[in-house]
Amino acid sequence: MIEEAAKLLARSRFAIAFTGAGISAESGVPTFRGFNGLWKKHRPEELATPEAFRKDPYLVWEFYRWRMDLIRKAKPNRAHYALAELESMGILKAVITQNVDDLHREAGTGNLIELHGNIFQVKCTSCGYGEYLKESGRLEEFLAQSNLPQCPDCGSLLRPDVVWFGEPLPRSALNEAFRLAERADVVLVIGTSGVVYPAAYIPQIVKETGGRIIEINTEESGITPIADVFLRCPAGEAMEKLMTRIKGLI
Ligand code: APR
Ligand code: ZN
Repeated sequence: MIEEAAKLLARSRFAIAFTGAGISAESGVPTFRGFNGLWKKHRPEELATPEAFRKDPYLVWEFYRWRMDLIRKAKPNRAHYALAELESMGILKAVITQNVDDLHREAGTGNLIELHGNIFQVKCTSCGYGEYLKESGRLEEFLAQSNLPQCPDCGSLLRPDVVWFGEPLPRSALNEAFRLAERADVVLVIGTSGVVYPAAYIPQIVKETGGRIIEINTEESGITPIADVFLRCPAGEAMEKLMTRIKGLI
């Protein structure tokens, strides 16, 4: 199986990766659907919604500060680094992720499409203000405050620039992801349950336009039935083995 996956990637013309929370599990970031009750007994579906934010922005901001703090201490793992290496080898053309944890960028992936936003990015609820806290240097300040964060331009409430349940995805990221999927001859799908749309269309589009699907997951997912190669293995271990085999082929 690893051999077949390695061949598909090594011989590909335009390979892309599509990742979900499972790729960051070994970095200590809890996956979404394995996450229930981890924070004050709330399910993410109760906190990551526009309704929750309208009703209790303090609670939602408290949750996101906790998540930001947890995620900023997390480090990319072997799987994130392997994808960055595959890109620098010229094999992988892009990584499309549903994760907001920034670990692909930290690992060095250049062409990264973040379908669900980025947890270190905040935006104003009224004007067009946006800020990437890792770059503005205000992350510490943000995590230390317990009041509601305000827009420096207009004074309105700031919110995390992530896609909440029921919200549309950023149009340009989604269009770019669909374009890449149409072009790809191989998609490497890692650590996603493949049940959240429209993101889950990505591997389907690759398949429908004649491409192949390699999937790495510790369990079967919504994508497994259409996968050409399914590697049931933790992401880090699978990617390490895959990289060794690919390097033996090229
Ligand atoms: N290696 C590989 N796969 C793993 C590992 C691992 N070490 N650990 C867990 N997995 C798999 C699980 O089997 C599961 O299929 O990762 C997947 C995680 O699924 P979800 O928690 O549903 O995460 P994801 O698919 O990214 O969710 C999609 O839903 O909640 C929203 O916006 C949120 O981006 C998220 C989207
Ligand atoms: Zn504003």
